[in-house]
Formats: sequence, C-alpha cells, structure tokens
Amino acid sequence: MSQEFRDMITEHQPEFNQPSYYITTPIYYVNAAPHLGTAYCTLLCDVQARYRRSMGYNVRFLTGMDEHGEKVAQAAQEHGYSPQEWCDAQAPLFKDLWKTLNISYDDFIRTTEPRQYKAVQTLWNRMRESGYLYKGTYDGWYCLPCETYFTPTQLSHAAQEHQRADEHLCPDCQRPLKRVEEESYFFKLSAFQDRLLELYAKHPDFVQPTFRMNEVRSFVEGGLQDLSVSRTSFDWGIPVPFDTKHVTYVWFDALLNYMTSVFYGEDDPIRKNQFAFRWPAQCHVVGKDIIRFHCIIWPAMLMAINEALPEHVFAHGFLTVRNSETGNAEKMSKSRGNAIAPQEVIDLLGIDGYRYYFMCDVIHGEDSAISFDRMKQVYNADLANSWGNLVSRTLSMCAKYFDGQTPAIFDGWHDEHNVLRDIVDDGLFADYSAAMEQMRYADAKEAVMKLIHAANHYIEDMAPWTLAKTAATNDKDAQQLARVMLNLLESIRIAAHLLAPIMPHTSHEVLCRMGLEPEAEILNSCLSIDLILEKLCAWGGLSAPCAVVCDAPLFPRIDTKN
Ligand code: ME8
Ligand code: MG
Repeated sequence: MSQEFRDMITEHQPEFNQPSYYITTPIYYVNAAPHLGTAYCTLLCDVQARYRRSMGYNVRFLTGMDEHGEKVAQAAQEHGYSPQEWCDAQAPLFKDLWKTLNISYDDFIRTTEPRQYKAVQTLWNRMRESGYLYKGTYDGWYCLPCETYFTPTQLSHAAQEHQRADEHLCPDCQRPLKRVEEESYFFKLSAFQDRLLELYAKHPDFVQPTFRMNEVRSFVEGGLQDLSVSRTSFDWGIPVPFDTKHVTYVWFDALLNYMTSVFYGEDDPIRKNQFAFRWPAQCHVVGKDIIRFHCIIWPAMLMAINEALPEHVFAHGFLTVRNSETGNAEKMSKSRGNAIAPQEVIDLLGIDGYRYYFMCDVIHGEDSAISFDRMKQVYNADLANSWGNLVSRTLSMCAKYFDGQTPAIFDGWHDEHNVLRDIVDDGLFADYSAAMEQMRYADAKEAVMKLIHAANHYIEDMAPWTLAKTAATNDKDAQQLARVMLNLLESIRIAAHLLAPIMPHTSHEVLCRMGLEPEAEILNSCLSIDLILEKLCAWGGLSAPCAVVCDAPLFPRIDTKN
C-alpha cells in the first residue's frame, strides 16, 4: 500500500462531514432464542454496513430487542419468569450470536431501557398535540403471535382466499385469533391515505424490491382504518403519560426505537445535533411479514408528528423449512418451534462459510428453502475449490519459487495489460457496487467470482511450475514467473477487498498471509474520502515483496458423502 493510503487512514475517526448512512434491523421479539431467520436479516444489514463504511460513509448500524407486549409477557410467564427477568436472561443469547457471526452493530437497543420510555412518552405528547389521537373502544380480533389487529374486511378476504369457513384465523400466520374488547387510544391512520399514496408515487423506491411496493400501494388504496395504539387489558408496556391505565401498543413503542437510538426528543444540544445528522434513516431492513408496519403505519406516525421519513425500506423474504407432516414449506419461526439453531450451520460451514451461503446463495426478495445439501455444495464449489484454492495455490507457489516471499515488482509491471487486469478494468467495481447498493449480494459476489475463476484458469494456462524449472537459467522465464505471480496476487488482493463485507475474517486473513497487514487492518474501517474502496481496488495497488504465510486451508472441503 502506498504512503498516500497510509496517511489517509491513520487513526481516522468518522466525521460529521462524511455522509451518514443509518441502517437498522427489526428489533426482535424476545419470545425465544434467535434462529437462522433472525440472523439472516441481521447479516443483510451487517454486509451493507461494512460495505458503506468502506465507501467512506459514517455508518450507524442499529439492532436490538422488542421486549414489551403480550407475546413476550406470555413467553416469560410460561418459563416462570417476570417479563423483565425473562428479557434480561434472553438478551445475551442475541448479543452472543451477533458476536459469533461478527455483526458490526453500533447500538443494541432494548425497549425496556429508560431512553425508550422517554422517547415513547414524548411521542404520546406530540401525538396528542397533533390532533391525530382519540379515545375509543377496540372491539375486534387480535393475533397474539403477530401482535396485530385485523379488521372484519381483512378477515373475510383472507377466509375467501384460503377457502375456509372459519374467519377467525390470522390472515398472516393462520393461527387462531383472540377476541379483544377494551378501551383504547386510536391513531387516525385513515387520515393519511392520500399522503401515503403521494409518498409512494413520488418515491417509487421507498419500498424495495418493487413488487413489495406494489403490494403496499394496493393495500393503502383499499382504504385504511384507524389503529388502536394502547392496551388496557394487561400492563407489560410503556404507560401512556396522560392516562396511566393504558400501556402503549407494542408496535407503537417498537417502531420508535429507530429514532430513540439517535436521540429523538432529547434537549441536550449535542444530542440534538446528532439527531439532525442521523435522522432520517437511509434503510430499514425488515422481513415481508412486517412491511405494513414499516411502510404504512410508521411513515404515517412520522407524518403526524412532523418528522422526516426514512429513505428506504428493504423487505426480504422468509427462510422456510419443510414440515415433515404436511410436506409444505413453512416459515421458520420462534413461535412455531421449527427453527434451526445457527450453531448447527456454523459447525458445518464456519462463520464466513455461513455468511457466504446466506448472503450469496439466497435471493433476498423471495422466500428460500434451506437445504444442508445445497450449503455443502456451494461451500465446496465457491469457497473450498475456487476462492480458498486460489489463495493457497498462489501463496504456496510464491513461497516455493521466491524464497518465502511475494516477488518484487519489476519496472513496467504497473503498465502491463493481461486477462485478469482486463476484468478489473472492465467495470468490475461498477458492477459490484451497483449490486451491493441494491442488496443484490449474489450478483455482487458473481462479479468477484468472475475474477477468481479467471485467476484459477490463468494458473492452468500459465503453468508457473514449468516456468520455475527454467527460471534459474533463463531471465525471460524468471521475469514471466514473477509477472504471473504478481498478476495473481493483485487479483487476490482486489477480490479480498471486495469480499470483505461478506467474509470479513477471511479477507483479513488473506491479506495478512500475503504480508499486507496494514491493508488488512483498514478493512471495514470508516474511511475519510469518498470511494476509498474503489481506489483500493484499482489494479496496481499491490505492495511486494512481502513475506508470505502458508497456513491451513481457509475453507477445508466438506465431505458430502454423509
Ligand atoms: O416482528 N426468515 O419481531 P420478530 C427470514 N418485534 N427472516 C425471518 C424469519 C424467517 N423465517 N423469521 C423472522 C417482530 N425473520 C417485531 C419487529 S421492528 C420495529 C419490530 C426476521 O422477532 C425478519 O426480518 O417476529 C422478520 O421481519 C423479523 O425477523 C421479525 O422478527
Ligand atoms: Mg415474528
């Protein structure tokens, strides 16, 4: 790495003059341990957060836990805990998993924290002043696992659609609904139909992918009902400040977490500045089960209290598992008890193998069936045979032919063209970054894999082992051998940078094995200049000679026979 790069990255802390990129996961209910689906959404955000840091953004990545509501209270009771004790006992399960999976979050919010109480109470007061709040009685149906109210029209449509006589099953999760009749505050959601439709028309990419935007739009076109936002039949929630027999409806509380984390409603001038810098969020990543909350209710709440709207909501599909009795693919879920524990997959693939499979082999807008056979196949083909193999072959040849080092860069190497450089110069970075920005991680890795596959072919075509035989006596062959190795090393260096958001540990390890420790250290740090990743990935940035490390395979092959 050049001195110029070294100077730029020394001790750099992200600054307010860098653009903010604020990304969030849903805050997960604390009704059971996190599973593959929970981790999937968190990983989607982690990859984006790491990518944006390497692009010079000042990133804030928020995740956390949704601790109030009937569902959590019930889970606590079933386990013989008080709700707070239960949440406290579960929090480490989430935090430990994120640590294991190398999740680079900046804040972990819990809705039972004082900061959330304060923010939610500010919300209530602002809502009351806004005139979009009134007191009434809710008399209707409620899905406890989904913590969702359903209108009679929604129920009869769902019954028709599923061709069943019983209207009292949840249209989303198909489980029995509960009758609820209680005094409640209502949010005048119905008043926001036109403004929401206007928002979708002006910002067609507010919801991504596009087919989800269309679903949201037609739902709103069908008309909106006012929403009950407080409960009086139980008390596990944040009290309504001006009417304390009511507790906040869990979603009215939960959605606000995104603003609480960035100091919504704080008076302190430094925090006010932080809020102004961070809000609105650039991207809320959510599952398709909760798009109505994020794309309809949340923007309407923000409109009511005059706050800016998030820029994008990205909705991903479900990981599904086959039900052994019915043979149907069903959503993996904490409350259904069909969840696969992440550790099972980690034991098989390792951390980066795990990250690679879910981020690169699962199409992020749609539902995907999880298959252990497919995991092994993808791991062996892409990681063991292609990426891992390229690195170990190249480094062991360097060690053998150049006395434990990478070859010195000879005069003129920087100006030479070759097939690998052509791939890099021919829009590799542009293809990669366009895909990363739209969360098309499979396409992003495809762009990098093109370079990796080409490099493996290049080894076969150039046969360095033949050159090595004559290199001692023939200068031309010696230079050709150095050239081949440098071109391979440079391709590996660039691929390592591009794959770093997906497999941070491996990329770090690869750069270290090439003797590029300083460059490894900057991976995923927040850099000060725009498009630093692009500059790092330009052909010719390689430093050599450096001592190489030949160590155990990065991705040992998995035996597929058992
Ligand atoms: O809904 N496949 O929390 P939750 C993929 N607390 N993703 C899955 C999944 C699966 N099988 N199962 C869950 C809540 N997820 C609320 C959110 S936000 C203000 C409040 C992921 O614990 C997916 O992202 O039910 C889904 O939207 C989220 O977990 C819901 O988690
Ligand atoms: Mg859920």
